[in-house]
Amino acid sequence: MQFAPLLIHLLSAIALATAVPVTLHNSAHGQSNVKGAAYFLTNEPSGNMIMVASLTSDGHVAFKDAVSAGGRGAHATGAPGPDPLMSQGALHTSAAGQFLVAVNAGSNTLSMFSIDSKDPTKLKQVGTPVSSEGEFPISVAINKKATQVCVLNAGLVNGVNCYTVDKSLGLIRQADTLRSLNLKSDPGPMASAAHQIAFNDVNDKLVVTAVGAPGFLAVWNVTPNGTLSENFSTITPPSGGMNPFSLTAVPGTNALVSADTALGMDLWDLSSLSAANVGGNQTASGRSASLAFSGQAANCWSSFSSKTGNFYFIDAGASIITEVNLDKTSMKPSVVKQYLQTSESATIDSDIASLGGKDFLYVLAPNATSIDVLSLDAPGNAKKVGSFNFAAMAKQMKVKINPDNLQGLTTFVPKA
Ligand SMILES: *[C@@H]1O[C@H](CO)[C@@H](O)[C@H](O)[C@H]1NC(C)=O
Ligand SMILES: *[C@@H]1O[C@H](CO)[C@@H](O)[C@H](O)[C@H]1NC(C)=O
Ligand SMILES: *[C@@H]1O[C@H](CO)[C@@H](O)[C@H](O)[C@H]1NC(C)=O
Ligand SMILES: *[C@@H]1O[C@H](CO)[C@@H](O)[C@H](O)[C@H]1NC(C)=O
Repeated sequence: MQFAPLLIHLLSAIALATAVPVTLHNSAHGQSNVKGAAYFLTNEPSGNMIMVASLTSDGHVAFKDAVSAGGRGAHATGAPGPDPLMSQGALHTSAAGQFLVAVNAGSNTLSMFSIDSKDPTKLKQVGTPVSSEGEFPISVAINKKATQVCVLNAGLVNGVNCYTVDKSLGLIRQADTLRSLNLKSDPGPMASAAHQIAFNDVNDKLVVTAVGAPGFLAVWNVTPNGTLSENFSTITPPSGGMNPFSLTAVPGTNALVSADTALGMDLWDLSSLSAANVGGNQTASGRSASLAFSGQAANCWSSFSSKTGNFYFIDAGASIITEVNLDKTSMKPSVVKQYLQTSESATIDSDIASLGGKDFLYVLAPNATSIDVLSLDAPGNAKKVGSFNFAAMAKQMKVKINPDNLQGLTTFVPKA
């Protein structure tokens, strides 16, 4: 290994035992301490539900409600086990727009909900579910101004499509944004041809992590009016990279990071792209780099903390979280620390919420029917807050939970 010995932060049984009991009912008492909410999908083929939890200022999770996502979930063909959509971003919130968008992968639709800023556990559907204009929608992206939503279709009919946002009608199909990836999906209509859709930080590029040998980034230019370039540029991974999965924009730069299931992570420096070769084949150059993680099995998810300035990568196979720093000037990535989670809990989607001046990392652990919470106290100092189990609440509400079908995790914190 090329990096210094890593400190593995072992979680004690004591930390797990500190998890607060599941809250079964909304009550006036305790609401005042609700500082935000977390949401994930049951993604059941018989009916997709959005599981809703409140977040308190100390990072704790209390499961409150389950709301129909307005369609069916799905599980990728030939991919048993957790991570059914093989994606990051199956649902997303917009802080600026105070809404949530979720995919119904089995219905080829997406749904929009407004979020009550006084009680973000209250969701209200806006309009009706809209067609994703393709098959097996698995990931959504929302621009910073909350005026545009784009979806990634990863099935046999794969590609991207975008919508404008209407506060009363919901998502409105946007002309000149339906673009194909032209990927042959094998072995079936619900095999994942791609993993995530995201904007770069300045929102002038729409980026997809596509599956291939090697996998690649598909990058469309986004014009000021929101239309997409006719063709996408194909960016092959930096040396060592092979299977980019997630996408997290690096704030203040024209770069994104991806978890890479082949080794750890990739950094994509889009400022190095040739403007003269839009729609062509390009290589990741400039400050692009890849980095191997110790113990890597299946690094697929990533989040950024503005408080620590670091990225957190989630490995489902090893149940390890790896904290990575990018050097301020060279952008060279390095591992800060690794945090071992409960073995076989299959840690997947993650998000970071800022509550009471502190960042908390929320990680969906489907095999443990839990959300794991880490308090990001300082760089290299993430502390386990607890594992919050939702099995009892789901049973009480008669919501079907299959750990293999759960997907997506997103949080929302109302503006102060
Ligand atoms: C959007 O902008 C592009 C590029 O500037 C232009 O070609 C296109 O006609 C515009 N479309 C609309 C609907 O305004
Ligand atoms: C997009 O790609 C097609 C097929 O390669 C090509 O004919 C077309 O000119 C390209 N469009 C642009 C705007 O480069
Ligand atoms: C990019 O490279 C691939 C594989 O070599 C090739 O099939 C494709 O036609 C190339 N695309 C362009 C626009 O040159
Ligand atoms: C999930 O749990 C099952 C047993 O219930 C186990 O076989 C499997 O390896 C676990 N998955 C992961 C990714 O840890």
